[in-house]
Amino acid sequence: MLFDSALKRTLMLVCAGVATIVLVLGVLYWAANGGADLLGGPKQTGRALIGGNFSLIDHEGKSVTEADFRGHHTLVYFGYTFCPDVCPMELLAITETLEQLGPKADGVIPVFITVDPERDTVPVLADYVENFHPRLRALTGTLEEVRVATRAYRVYFKKADGPEYGNDYLMDHTSLIYFMGPDGDYITHFTFGTPPDVMAARLTKLLG
Ligand code: NI
Repeated sequence: MLFDSALKRTLMLVCAGVATIVLVLGVLYWAANGGADLLGGPKQTGRALIGGNFSLIDHEGKSVTEADFRGHHTLVYFGYTFCPDVCPMELLAITETLEQLGPKADGVIPVFITVDPERDTVPVLADYVENFHPRLRALTGTLEEVRVATRAYRVYFKKADGPEYGNDYLMDHTSLIYFMGPDGDYITHFTFGTPPDVMAARLTKLLG
C-alpha cells in the first residue's frame, strides 16, 4: 500500500511536468510491473513514454520491429483473438474508421499486438486478420517479446482470475487505440468505444 501511494505521487509529479529523469524511470518501472491500467490512459506529458522498440513476428510469419513501420502512421491496439467482445469491437471500429477515411488513410497501418502469445500463434492470427481491415498486421512472439512491446506502450495485461477450463481463459488488458506518427512517436490515443466517425474526424485533422 505504501508502495502504491508513492507511485501515485510519482505519476502526479510527472503529469505536473516536473519530472526528473529519476521520476521518469520510476514510472517506467511501475508501468513495467503492471500498474499502467491505473493511469486511465496516457497523458500528453507522457508522450515520450509511449511507443518504443519491439521485435515480434507477424501473421505471415515475418519478423517485424517498430522500424518496419517508419514512414507510416499506425493505429496500434493490444488484445487477443479469443477475446469475446472488446477486441473484435475495437478492431472493427479501426476497420470502419479506415474505410471512412478512404484514400486519405492509405499510409495508415493498423497493428494488432497480442497479449496472449500462448494461444495466438501465427496461424491463429492469420485466420483472425481476415475479419478486419486488409492492411491489418497482427503480431505475436514469445511472452517476453510481447512483454517488451506492452511495456513500450504501457499496456497492462494479465490472465484473468477465475475458473480455467483447459485452454479456455480470459485476459484482462488495456483497451486503447494508439495513433503513432511516421517516426514512431505517440500522437494521440482513443479510448474504448470511441465511435469510428469520431476517430475518422480526428484522424482527418491529424493527417492534415
Ligand atoms: Ni480484449
